[in-house]
Amino acid sequence: MANKEVDYLPMATHIAGAMWGDEGKGKIASGEAENARLVIRGTGGANAGHSVVYKGNKIGLHLVPGGITNPNAICLIGQGVAFDPILFLKELEELEKYEIPNLGERIKISGRAPVVFPYHKDMDELYERAKDKPVGTTRRGIGPTYSDYDNRFALRVYDLLLPPYELAGKIGVAAKILNILFAAFDMDECIINPESLAEEFHKYGEVLRPMIVNGDRITRWARQNGYKVIIEGAQAYRLDKNYGDYPNVTSSNCVTAGALIGSHLNHKDLDKVILVSKAYASRVGNGPFPTELMAHIENDKVIPYEKPFAGDVIREEGHEYGVSTGRPRRCGWADAVILKSAGEAEGADFQCINHLDTIGKIGQILGEIKVCVAYVYQGEQIDFYPDDIELTKETPTPIYETLKGGWEISSDLRDYDKLPDLAKKFVSIIEDVSGIPVKYLGVGPKNQDMIVRS
Ligand code: IMP
Repeated sequence: MANKEVDYLPMATHIAGAMWGDEGKGKIASGEAENARLVIRGTGGANAGHSVVYKGNKIGLHLVPGGITNPNAICLIGQGVAFDPILFLKELEELEKYEIPNLGERIKISGRAPVVFPYHKDMDELYERAKDKPVGTTRRGIGPTYSDYDNRFALRVYDLLLPPYELAGKIGVAAKILNILFAAFDMDECIINPESLAEEFHKYGEVLRPMIVNGDRITRWARQNGYKVIIEGAQAYRLDKNYGDYPNVTSSNCVTAGALIGSHLNHKDLDKVILVSKAYASRVGNGPFPTELMAHIENDKVIPYEKPFAGDVIREEGHEYGVSTGRPRRCGWADAVILKSAGEAEGADFQCINHLDTIGKIGQILGEIKVCVAYVYQGEQIDFYPDDIELTKETPTPIYETLKGGWEISSDLRDYDKLPDLAKKFVSIIEDVSGIPVKYLGVGPKNQDMIVRS
């Protein structure tokens, strides 16, 4: 029977990462959020990072949705977010400096979101140490928080409102299990003391109390009023725990389907999905990267060099260093095969390609720009991202289309037709191979430096 109360007008846009994160989702999300009434983070946690600009000030955010700079937007940290109260309160303190209107009233936190405790970061370290091939996580405790949740001894944001002795009781269950592991790994300094943690986190709960909500009520409010909703994606298709390069993935389903659950939305609420990538590719952490180019990086650090490799040129031109961790990113050519597979997993309607200006400069420096249009894998040419790389131990070999030279674009260019022909050719290769129309093109660092094709 149809729901009489709700019209289910699709009102939500998911801003989805196409690659391994850091595609510049925040930039398009801020633009899209300008006329939204609700902006939601539904996946990941403080492993994500993006910067927003408010009245000329650049502010780094990890948990608060970037839509906070729109004074009309309610910002919900949804049930799917691994919520770190310590980092959140630091972020709030930072935001308060900029006198953003009604900050306290506009930020809402789902009571059902799992809480990250300091011991989750220690567990992140422990799990990484135990592995022959570490994932290279952000050490923000994301995996351990979700795994406690799946094992049903995690604490949720609501638990922070319990009296300290009850909170200590719940933390005590985690302590009973995890302290054994800390002792076995000679990590005695990490042993959990439930009582002192409960005292500390109860205090955070009291500060957070006015922001803690039933997230379903917030999305119902948006649904009933037909308000525009933005889901600010975190991480990306190739980091999704099921679609991605397992085990080199994050611990949430960051594709559209997972983002909907994490955001308290249903599939009928979804209006469109914008798939975001850069005009080149980047990755932090370990795992396969078919179009990766050589660079002077060792153990997550840039080592001294005289002559740059192509990967160094892309990293430096694109300022490819992690917002959350400061790590230099591995860089390579754009990969339209991944975009095609990402479009299928995410249900993408449009694409946004950032750094079209940067790849033009890179082309001028290197004399060429490449786009991966197919792979050779296990002796065959394929047009999808294979899922058995761990088994075959073969990273697909890219087949490239090569454009000679580069271009220069002014960041105030808004007319697609005025782009250099070579840049248009670049866009059409990506469109043809991926099958997803390119609607947005980033041509400069500011949010408004964007060509929007009608
Ligand atoms: P975790 O999410 O901290 O567990 O890290 C798992 C993998 O995802 C690592 O390779 C991280 O570098 C990567 N990762 C997690 N969040 C982001 C992100 O926001 N951008 C880029 N990579 C990320």
